[in-house]
Amino acid sequence: MSRKALLQYLEMLQTSGIREFYPAPDEKAELLSELAQKYANCQNCALAQGRANLVYGEGNAHSRLMLIGEGPGEQEDKSGRPFVGAAGQLLDKMLAAIQIQRSEIYIANIVKCRPPGNRNPLPEERLACLPYLVEQIEIIQPQFLLIMGLVAAQTLLGNTESLGWHRLKVHSFMGIPTYVSYHPAALLRNPQWKHPAWEDLQFFQKAFKA
Ligand code: URA
Repeated sequence: MSRKALLQYLEMLQTSGIREFYPAPDEKAELLSELAQKYANCQNCALAQGRANLVYGEGNAHSRLMLIGEGPGEQEDKSGRPFVGAAGQLLDKMLAAIQIQRSEIYIANIVKCRPPGNRNPLPEERLACLPYLVEQIEIIQPQFLLIMGLVAAQTLLGNTESLGWHRLKVHSFMGIPTYVSYHPAALLRNPQWKHPAWEDLQFFQKAFKA
């Protein structure tokens, strides 16, 4: 039921593309920070009960690139900031390898609150949270999306394909060219995937730096 609702929402997003709503460039950062405050006490799904902090997202509101992860872990929940734990440290290195500093880009997650025990977010939790991500994309208007990991890829692209199927392809979300690679936490657990992840990053870099 809720997966069906998620797919219906995705279909609506695909056909509508990015909304004709352009905040003035100098208002983007302020708008994002107002929305982060507005949603800090969100009760739209059960994840609210277990959170210390809602992790809205952070970074450069004018970035050409938005990086999208799955959801906060323990360190992110404590600090209220995305990708600050071990996976975040690896993410910084992955970005540095393709000459991108974390401060240049905007980073957000599919769900803004930590799932208990770091389980995958449920379809109803993803659906409840997705409008926040869509709104962030509408404000920032990035030219590229880089999705980290299978859960985020399947959620935004509305499929149940493998990570291998998603990589080295240019997808589209809300009309924006979208790339997929391994989640850094998965790379920490499976170092043999670091080589294919490097291929993915180079594939993305070619388009991003063109
Ligand atoms: N994993 C994610 O997907 N997002 C974070 O913010 C941290 C870990």
